[in-house]
Amino acid sequence: MDLPWNDERSNKFMTNVGLITSDGPFGADVMACEWTHHISYSPGLIAVCISPNKATYENIKQTKEFGVNLCSTEQSIMSSIAGGYTGSMYNKINALEELGFEFYGAKKIRVAMIKGAAVNIECILSKQITLGDHITLVGEVIEASNNSDKVPLAYHGGRYFILNTNVAKPSQEERERIRKVVEKHKK
Ligand SMILES: Cc1cc2nc3c(=O)[nH]c(=O)nc-3n(C[C@H](O)[C@H](O)[C@H](O)COP(=O)(O)O)c2cc1C
Repeated sequence: MDLPWNDERSNKFMTNVGLITSDGPFGADVMACEWTHHISYSPGLIAVCISPNKATYENIKQTKEFGVNLCSTEQSIMSSIAGGYTGSMYNKINALEELGFEFYGAKKIRVAMIKGAAVNIECILSKQITLGDHITLVGEVIEASNNSDKVPLAYHGGRYFILNTNVAKPSQEERERIRKVVEKHKK
């Protein structure tokens, strides 16, 4: 069966917004990609699921490299622009610069990276797999830097959120009770 975009069941997922930068046949570009996942520690691998009709996909297919800039809580407008216009018709990077956002050149690949993102990661394409209506591009991390003062933006049900409330831990007594129950069921 299908699980369509904006369906109330699809909307229960919570994601990050990866701002994926690339430079290829469509020129320097940035797109918003909520399906951005860290999938391996050693080596570091990042998977991004991108619809094949995006300029970003064509760029990465040709150059085999891309930037993953995790959108910070101060960059929701950048996410909406990167996700609302296509690089086949708009120079989003120039527009974003005019709006005050800043970019810098990646260290190891030929793409623009985003200043003020929560994390900046440079990837070389290691594999691509067509899964349903999106293509999963797996990038091997070759450079990564953390901006410790920036907080990643959360995305849920088509809206942006700042995560700032911790779920309370059960009391010591309750944890002990839980531990005993689980121990009783040891195989
Ligand atoms: C918050 C947000 C998240 C998005 N996530 C994805 C995604 O995971 N995969 C995808 O293919 N498109 C996603 N999109 C849509 C693309 O960002 C959009 O189609 C964009 O215009 C593509 O740009 P490009 O053609 O320059 O590559 C998302 C859009 C928004 C606003």
